[in-house]
Amino acid sequence: MHLSVVGSGYVGTTIAACFADLGHDVVNIDIDQNIVDAINAGEAPIHEDGLPELLKEHAGDDGTGRLRATTDYAALLDTDATFLCLPTPQNDDGSIDLSIMEAGAAQLGATLADKDDWHTVVVKSTVIPGTTEDTITPILETETEQSAGEDFGVGMNPEFLREGTAVHDFLDPDKVVLGADDEHALSDMHDVFDPLIDQTDAPVVETDTRTAEMIKYANNSFLAAKVSLINDIGNICKELGVDAYEVADAIGLDDRIGAQFLRSGLGWGGSCFPKDTAAIRAAARQYDYEPRMLDAATEVNDEQPKRLLSFMDDHVDVTNKRVAVLGLAFKPGTDDVRNSRAIPVIEGLQQRGAEIVAYDPIAAENMREHFPDIQYAESPAAALDGASAALVVTDWEEIALLDEEFDAMATPVVVDGRRAIDRRDGIVYEGLTW
Ligand code: UGA
Repeated sequence: MHLSVVGSGYVGTTIAACFADLGHDVVNIDIDQNIVDAINAGEAPIHEDGLPELLKEHAGDDGTGRLRATTDYAALLDTDATFLCLPTPQNDDGSIDLSIMEAGAAQLGATLADKDDWHTVVVKSTVIPGTTEDTITPILETETEQSAGEDFGVGMNPEFLREGTAVHDFLDPDKVVLGADDEHALSDMHDVFDPLIDQTDAPVVETDTRTAEMIKYANNSFLAAKVSLINDIGNICKELGVDAYEVADAIGLDDRIGAQFLRSGLGWGGSCFPKDTAAIRAAARQYDYEPRMLDAATEVNDEQPKRLLSFMDDHVDVTNKRVAVLGLAFKPGTDDVRNSRAIPVIEGLQQRGAEIVAYDPIAAENMREHFPDIQYAESPAAALDGASAALVVTDWEEIALLDEEFDAMATPVVVDGRRAIDRRDGIVYEGLTW
């Protein structure tokens, strides 16, 4: 098929490259000329495992020619379907800001007004249930002066890609959700995904757009709440002198619980869990429903960095002392620091008047935008040298392997938020939930 993907963020670039890998002809449309140039040179504009290889294979002069990028919306006129992968930021009250989606849909509609043949528009971004039907479709109808379901199709295809493993997750999905409000759109979405479905045997869920939108929120809410529940249990374990990881290993053997997402510690960050749980909670309140479980999940998540800092306080007063923050990305494998637990940890250290030395293998530059005035070390050893405490925030392998580097600390107090560190002898070691 000939496909267009609007937006070249983590999701847009990844799916454009993966669609090309499935054999489709793809054009990726973005307003940022630098991103477009990178893709056309066969280079990845973001840090994502496996993406450089796919872009090299399918874009650029030496590629298969199945993927190109442009800033020109008119390129979508030569395609059969368009996937909308635009950002959905947060308003101050946590609710979803749809302005970029609305502007993108308007531009898409205005372009499609010149097309007489059928075209299917698929919403890929995470949007509150009803958005595709009640907001995007009417914009497209107004701009094209055509009718959805008769002249063009509308679908919703939520993504379950994790940052850092997005390419792998796309090519080996645990499900493919196809939401459509008309048969023609559903059939087009099948044409896009059938090569993937055939090669992976992934289960397919066919539904309407509203349900597809809710499936995405339910998926992320459930996982975020699962981590918060194991953190709640983990905090109790710590108080009672029990190792939460031993407990998690045992309960994870129960098929009804499952072994994944039971790693207790500093909690969840990133762009998705915090934003999606906030958006669905705000949407629930608009309908006068108090989402108590999801509120509590967020409260527990906010609590974990405070507990990490208080365990540090139990051992050392860090006022005017050097403290190493090990890891800044919201999880290993990414340079993304959005809502990273490192942010409240660093703020807590600033309130205590500590001299902060942070280390991350790839995310330091992004964190510098939040905290330009703290120190950034070139290696974990340099961060630890002379420090009175070390706080483990991200479980990068390089951090997990630290050992004799702790010997260079002024006072070897190590508070581990991710159960990353093996070393115990000769240091004061505190785990968050163990
Ligand atoms: C998440 C979902 O896992 C994806 O399915 C979804 O597509 C994506 O959001 C999205 O909506 O775009 P992501 O935010 O990339 O993906 O990261 P995860 O691997 O899910 O981790 C989220 C956070 O939970 C991280 O901060 C991680 O450290 C934390 N976590 C995860 C734990 O604290 N413990 C665990 O056991 C698992």
